[in-house]
Amino acid sequence: MTSTDFILPHLTQHKDRLYAKGLKALFADDPMRFDHFSTRCGDLLLDYSKNFIDAESRQALLDLAKKADLGRHIDAMFKGEYINNTENRQVLHTALRAKPDNIPQDYRHQIETTKQKMFSYARQLEQSQLKGATGKAINTVVNIGVGGSDLGPNMAVNALKASHSSPTRFLFVSNIDPVQISRALDQCDPETTLFIICSKTFTTLETLANAHAARQWFLDKTGGDESAIQHHFLAVSTNLEAAAEFGIPEQNLFPMWDWVGGRYSLWSAIGLSICLAVGAEGFQAFLDGGEAMDDHFKNTPFDQNIPVLMALLGIWYSDYFQCQSQALISYDQNLEQFPDYLQQLDMESNGKSVQKSGSPVDYATGAILWGGVGTNTQHSFHQLIHQGSHLIPVDFLVAAQSNCPVANQHQDLFSNCLAQSQAMMQGRSEQEVLEEMLSNGSDEEQARFLAKHRAIAGNKPSNTLMYKQLTPFVLGQLIALYEHKIYAQSVVWNINAFDQWGVELGKQLSKTISSVISNPEQASQQDSSTQGLIQYYLKNR
Ligand code: F6P
Repeated sequence: MTSTDFILPHLTQHKDRLYAKGLKALFADDPMRFDHFSTRCGDLLLDYSKNFIDAESRQALLDLAKKADLGRHIDAMFKGEYINNTENRQVLHTALRAKPDNIPQDYRHQIETTKQKMFSYARQLEQSQLKGATGKAINTVVNIGVGGSDLGPNMAVNALKASHSSPTRFLFVSNIDPVQISRALDQCDPETTLFIICSKTFTTLETLANAHAARQWFLDKTGGDESAIQHHFLAVSTNLEAAAEFGIPEQNLFPMWDWVGGRYSLWSAIGLSICLAVGAEGFQAFLDGGEAMDDHFKNTPFDQNIPVLMALLGIWYSDYFQCQSQALISYDQNLEQFPDYLQQLDMESNGKSVQKSGSPVDYATGAILWGGVGTNTQHSFHQLIHQGSHLIPVDFLVAAQSNCPVANQHQDLFSNCLAQSQAMMQGRSEQEVLEEMLSNGSDEEQARFLAKHRAIAGNKPSNTLMYKQLTPFVLGQLIALYEHKIYAQSVVWNINAFDQWGVELGKQLSKTISSVISNPEQASQQDSSTQGLIQYYLKNR
């Protein structure tokens, strides 16, 4: 496939026409625009009316999905075809959240058994029955993992604070930087701390280093009592042998499988910390939310299908409007870590420049994704969104209800969210600014000068996702929505969203560099920049 297969002249004409017309005019033309360009999955609402879209261009974009045979590709994923073609793997994270009857027969038993084991730990923790070696109840859980074995659980545990089923404290350690593990351990009491070592491969440098540091700290604090380890260390991995070798007893091992990608793994036992935080019922509700979005993705016509519409809009902006980046701004403090989580999900999945066949792409694929939490972002980067020279489409996320109501603050939060998407869409012309300044009695010369600086062009697109309140079910829906959006985009772009070969080279080189630091006589084989920096390190460490 080349760009000529999907950067199509009639879509380019739609783009030019709609951009020239402008979002404000599109609203003026159609008083029912919200009804025509919004859709739902249960209570989750997507308003995509503030985009450069009308009925004709939406149809032309939907035709792109049809041309890519998206429906067949969706079936292929749910049926367990080997769609991760560079690793020859199935992609079945959806099975982890399916009702037992919908789980492929071959995997049903292992999925259900593992889930029940997670639930059993969660119930014990909730009832203060999960005890350490000295009989004291566990009150602190430390998740050690990185990438998909950290970002999803970390984000979800913090997002769902309002649904926590016990006062247990959760800490997350991911970085090889010893500062993080040291700070976490400083807060822990070895008698009441449970460590969960999460690593799909159980070979990841960061996770193994932190796990060894935690184990050593634990032994130092408990007088070297190896037999106490079984009460304080659990592990989740596909590589159960390596976890056992590390010293985790068999009964403390939770399996996962190669058909679950790291960044899609929070639905598996990698999400054990989420299950411990929100309890068995809360975790089941989270899985149910994911499954509700799966049903929507599989069964809803594409013109009302939230992940498909969002995928096509993302492609529209990347490939037709040449937007390099897209932002996600949640007006929901609970979702503070959602952009970090989504960066891995999206950028590790669709940051590819060869097609599934190995041919290079000559069109833009995955966007640079970034964002933050509103209203804080209004006081940091919104200036660039409103008046900068880049076109940055935004996804806004906002709840109708706060789970921590204080006075009228939630209404103010909500109003600010709507005001931002409205300001992006309508802007404010130089003439409007001038008239306002003159009517307020400003000096005319000064007003004419300042109006140029104060005018806001508008015509900036956004989506708004709304839900009643952030519950485990809603978080499950939101995560599955973005997973499917990313998959749908990869199908249209004809790339494999499920491998991540790009991260391998840096891992290999870091081993070589570490060996050069230990044996400086090998340094001459390195480039001069690397040599110079190693020299500085050796002199100053
Ligand atoms: O960063 C690369 C990566 O392989 C991610 O895809 C993965 O989530 C992370 O490392 C952690 O891997 P593991 O769970 O095997 O330790």
